[in-house]
Amino acid sequence: MELNKFFSNKELLKYLPEFIEVYNLRPIKNNKMGMGINHSFAVYALLKKLNISHVIESGIAQGHSTWLIENSIPDIDLISVDLDLSNRLYISKNSNTNYVEGDIEDISFEDLDTNKTIVFFDDHTNVMHRLKFLNAWGIRYAIFEDNYPPGHGDSYSIRKILSDYGQPITDMVPGYKYKNKFEKFKFLPKNLQNRLTTANTTWPYFLTHYHHVQNKLRKPNLVDKVLFRKIVKNYYEIQPIYLYKNQKWGVSGWDGKYRALEPLFAEIKDSKFSTEFEKFEKESPDRMFNYNYISFVELN
Ligand SMILES: C[S@@+](CC[C@H](N)C(=O)[O-])C[C@H]1O[C@@H](n2cnc3c(N)ncnc32)[C@H](O)[C@@H]1O
Repeated sequence: MELNKFFSNKELLKYLPEFIEVYNLRPIKNNKMGMGINHSFAVYALLKKLNISHVIESGIAQGHSTWLIENSIPDIDLISVDLDLSNRLYISKNSNTNYVEGDIEDISFEDLDTNKTIVFFDDHTNVMHRLKFLNAWGIRYAIFEDNYPPGHGDSYSIRKILSDYGQPITDMVPGYKYKNKFEKFKFLPKNLQNRLTTANTTWPYFLTHYHHVQNKLRKPNLVDKVLFRKIVKNYYEIQPIYLYKNQKWGVSGWDGKYRALEPLFAEIKDSKFSTEFEKFEKESPDRMFNYNYISFVELN
């Protein structure tokens, strides 16, 4: 599996003292619906290093990432998109931040300066679909906040694309088994059975009400990784500050398909910021240092 580093440890560590000062001020201390410190630091360092002036954020939830982006680069132009804006605890008053309730595909990017723009995806959708979209608008940089390994997570990630794995329903709903509750009506004539079965009764409803989830699933295939390599010039992951011994899926260890880049610190106590890290961990116990292999891509 490809695990390309974008930052050397030395370069990443340079951003850490200023980041910790900023992170101390975050309004949502225990960001239950979103990212913790490993991913927040990766986003902060990427925006700084690439000298970004425009960000489009897809997936706001309570608003931690909106706050983080605004506090990484002063005066940044930000378009923040979510299907549902009602979960926001942090609501920006910044005149350079504009909210859109909907999907990123609802917005035109015709006049965008694509050299200084990055799209930050934390919307748990379908990376392949999003890459085709970015490619069509000529956007060059994107962060995919979750790069789930095959077998886990509710989105079609880069790791899954490169493993020919697709995105099965069981990654989103572990243990799911389709049960036809109308099975017992099999004695009825076919047309009557059809009128009762889910295909006829709920498909139209589902298709009109839940259009945003319709490209979430993908069957295993050999083609997406070919297209991925055509669209993407470089693909990287950003190493974490620190890794828990066990992952959030109850899996122990970080090898095999779970392999991750080496963290900056093997132990929190090894770091000169251990006091701050311990405080952050207390503010969001057992999830502050979660890590889903945050990834960054440069498009051709
Ligand atoms: C994990 S949360 C985002 C967390 C946030 N970035 C943070 O770190 O605090 C995912 C969000 O994506 C939103 N979402 C799901 N599908 C979406 C789509 N197609 N477009 C935009 N947002 C979407 C959900 O409503 C949810 O608020």
